[in-house]
Amino acid sequence: MEVVIYVDKDTYYAQSGPGSHRMRKKDTYTQVNFRSAGTTHMSLRLKELEMALQSMQSLSELDVRLEQYPTPPSMAAAVLFAAQFEHGDITGKTVLDLGCGNGIFAIGAALLGAERVIGIDIQSTALKVARQNAVMLGTEDIIEWILGDVANLELSTRVDTIVTNPPFGVKRRGADLTFLRKALAIANIIYSIHLSGEKNRKFLRESIEQLGGTVTQIETFEFPISRIYEFHTKQRHYTKVDLYRICNG
Ligand SMILES: C[S@@+](CC[C@H](N)C(=O)[O-])C[C@H]1O[C@@H](n2cnc3c(N)ncnc32)[C@H](O)[C@@H]1O
Repeated sequence: MEVVIYVDKDTYYAQSGPGSHRMRKKDTYTQVNFRSAGTTHMSLRLKELEMALQSMQSLSELDVRLEQYPTPPSMAAAVLFAAQFEHGDITGKTVLDLGCGNGIFAIGAALLGAERVIGIDIQSTALKVARQNAVMLGTEDIIEWILGDVANLELSTRVDTIVTNPPFGVKRRGADLTFLRKALAIANIIYSIHLSGEKNRKFLRESIEQLGGTVTQIETFEFPISRIYEFHTKQRHYTKVDLYRICNG
């Protein structure tokens, strides 16, 4: 498999595969050419990935008990691009999306050339939408959808990378740790989104270490929340969230 990256002609070139990755910060104008297993050839810019994710159907029934807060397409695209072009964690890898909702991370990873993708969610209507989105974006052949509780997920082999926006544990205490515990049991690298704030960071860092993981990077995003639940008083508000990159071991 070969990955060639051009950034506005003069910035840099990178090659991926069994060899090394040379990466630089994400750039809106990055052009990526994928040649995967010699069969497919795909060219994708960050903006194009964002637009593809924007075209996806959203969930029509949101359940606050499951903390269904959809990740905005611009953020999902930025997370996946950073995972790939800063760390080489998506293209050619097996990628798992825990609590996949409408499938935004699973489908985005597939569009970025992941070899195999799995999405799991506990809500059947979410999975139905995710499946339809995968078909709409031509990624259905490499994504497997699982209906079930993350806590009970058993896989026959480990996955390379998990990308997840888990429940923050606000409605069901410990739900965030359930996701992290499972993630660290089955994956080498984990990208996980959590509420920002010093107290939570300290708690999560300690918990991740106890579970055998190492936090290698934290990046903060402004997460927009529209008026999706009755108790929301504003049309839209922003919450700071942290994206953790966690290595197993
Ligand atoms: C914050 S939403 C994120 C959805 C989607 N991944 C995204 O980023 O837009 C959390 C998702 O986790 C799912 N979920 C909550 N608890 C779960 C559990 N125990 N097992 C599987 N999925 C769960 C919810 O149904 C919801 O779709």
